[in-house]
Amino acid sequence: MKVLHSEGEIARKIRDLGDTISREYDGKELFIIGILKGGFMFMADLVRAITLPAKIEFARLSSYANSDSPTGDVTIVDDIHAVISGRHVLIVDDIMDTGHSLLAFKEHLKKKGPASVKICTMIDKTFRRDASISPDYYGFRITEGFVVGYGLDFAEQYRTLPALYVLDPDETGGPPT
Ligand code: IMP
Ligand code: MG
Repeated sequence: MKVLHSEGEIARKIRDLGDTISREYDGKELFIIGILKGGFMFMADLVRAITLPAKIEFARLSSYANSDSPTGDVTIVDDIHAVISGRHVLIVDDIMDTGHSLLAFKEHLKKKGPASVKICTMIDKTFRRDASISPDYYGFRITEGFVVGYGLDFAEQYRTLPALYVLDPDETGGPPT
């Protein structure tokens, strides 16, 4: 396992993201929805870098890539409980990979009548993108490998590490995904 981005690099990137988002939503109130579990650490850091009034919620998604469903089945395990109609919603998650999870959740939220919905992920993993969606804001872009740490797990391991790492292919038990 090797370091992809250190704690310091992550902190600097989050300051930049916080500045950009605060500028773009100037004068508005944000409704920030963190995706559990992977997005918890990024969410906690990002909300402190955003200098606007904001409300927060969390949702939990689950995706099962299976052979019957090439797009994967996305389930909203825990939905938000707040009313978001007329609100400017920002979804915060660890990573966008195929894009199916966040596309499904974004479409789900749009039915609740928000003024806008955008997505911010720590990592934009572009090489397996399948759904026609990309994050509106992202920290780092990767073009290969499986990332862990800073909220991201492999079989529930490594989530609590403060930096981002790339797993070696032999550590994932197969070719890199
Ligand atoms: P999707 O393919 O964009 O729907 O992403 C589904 C989920 O797969 C993400 O929310 C992550 O939990 C997980 N995932 C995808 N790529 C990685 C990775 O490189 N490291 C850790 N988790 C990943
Ligand atoms: Mg996730």
